[in-house]
Amino acid sequence: MQDRPFDIILWGATGHTGRPAALYLQRQYGHQLRWAIAGRDRARLERVRAETGNPALPIFIVPGSDRAAADQVAAQTRVLASTVAPAARYASEMVAACIAHGTHMADLCGELHWLRHMMDTHDPAAQAGNVKIVNCCGLDSIPSEYLVHRMQQGALAQYGEYCTHITNCFSHGHIAVSGGSFASGKGVMEAVASDPAMADMIANPYSLNPPDQLQGPHCPDLGQVQFDADFGQWVMPFPLGQINARVVRRSHALLGYPWGDQFTYREAKLAGRGPLKRLQAELETRLTRLFVEADPRSRSGRFLHSLGPKEGSGPTDRQIARNGPCGFKAVGVTASGKKLKGWMHTHWDPGHGGTAAMLVDAAYCLARRQDEIEAETGRSGGFLTPYLAMGEVLREQLQANAGIHWGLESTV
Ligand SMILES: NC(=O)c1ccc[n+]([C@@H]2O[C@H](COP(=O)([O-])OP(=O)(O)OC[C@H]3O[C@@H](n4cnc5c(N)ncnc54)[C@H](OP(=O)(O)O)[C@@H]3O)[C@@H](O)[C@H]2O)c1
Repeated sequence: MQDRPFDIILWGATGHTGRPAALYLQRQYGHQLRWAIAGRDRARLERVRAETGNPALPIFIVPGSDRAAADQVAAQTRVLASTVAPAARYASEMVAACIAHGTHMADLCGELHWLRHMMDTHDPAAQAGNVKIVNCCGLDSIPSEYLVHRMQQGALAQYGEYCTHITNCFSHGHIAVSGGSFASGKGVMEAVASDPAMADMIANPYSLNPPDQLQGPHCPDLGQVQFDADFGQWVMPFPLGQINARVVRRSHALLGYPWGDQFTYREAKLAGRGPLKRLQAELETRLTRLFVEADPRSRSGRFLHSLGPKEGSGPTDRQIARNGPCGFKAVGVTASGKKLKGWMHTHWDPGHGGTAAMLVDAAYCLARRQDEIEAETGRSGGFLTPYLAMGEVLREQLQANAGIHWGLESTV
């Protein structure tokens, strides 16, 4: 890549994740990176710039779905980091612009229907142009994908064989839903409701695999509360598990199935012990399902969705700080029945602070550690999962700079 005026342009810097990302970028890398912020509203961008304490920070006005504005920023930076939401509504032109200008892109998008559409439309050009498009660079799905790779490395080292199944549970932390997240989720629900083929595609556990590999061993998303003997407590459906599991499966597929063609992965949320915890988990699961399964075209669906967070709303800084720490716990089992436990932990909240740090460090690796990551991963372009795009280089970066850690507990 020819040198560019900027290492990173952060698009969506005014949002509930974008603003913490701008502050983290300045605090952590402001002295060594050439970077800028972008968004649709100058006054709000100026307020974020003032908060960074960097009055020279350049600002770009880039509304969503504006190809000319997207071209202008994509041509000037090594990496475009995006928190703009919903991506399905606003970011398609930015993806096309990044690929056209040879600019790597990292985002937080977990909108399955749009990811599938973008991969089908642009993956060949991204590969041919050596452009890395890396979606899901936040709580979904960096903790899960990196934990699974850590566990498989550990299983091979300790037992000489890989895990054939891993169950990974969100174990602690509180997830706050902003208006942008809710609108993104609603966009997926609308796509499902208006297109039966899309509904089938999204229900497929392998829906993010390469187009000729959209199948694998039976492993549906967890649909109900159940007792898990390995964790010794109730587990319940984890809303982000749907996207995380598909990213893990895509990662395995793109690697050529090193863990075996019978490898299965499931994600859930730990719900605690005893009848009261079970009841709470049942109620939460039913309430979530009511929202997710409501037909957005029906009157009741529109009413239910009107109760969700409005666009532009979201947690305050104090609420974000109270939502951490967070983490995951996982149990894997090998073909011969040996078990391995793994964990991920960070002091950050799961949603906005932690996700902002993950996105920024991912963008940093794409901008500044490209040679190391290509030497490790051997991949130069395409729609890649975070681990396949940045490998152990990002893990090292997150552990050293963001306080995000993964480990293996003990064998059982
Ligand atoms: N992967 C994860 O773990 C994770 C965690 C948190 C969030 N997310 C995802 O990240 C995305 C952002 O979440 P958030 O909580 O930061 O949402 P948010 O606070 O609503 O931010 C949305 C951003 O999009 C911008 N935007 C909206 N419409 C636009 C348009 N027409 N043109 C240009 N920009 C526009 C907003 O700009 P204005 O400020 O001008 O309105 C704002 O910067 C969501 O998709 C969410 O699901 C993912």
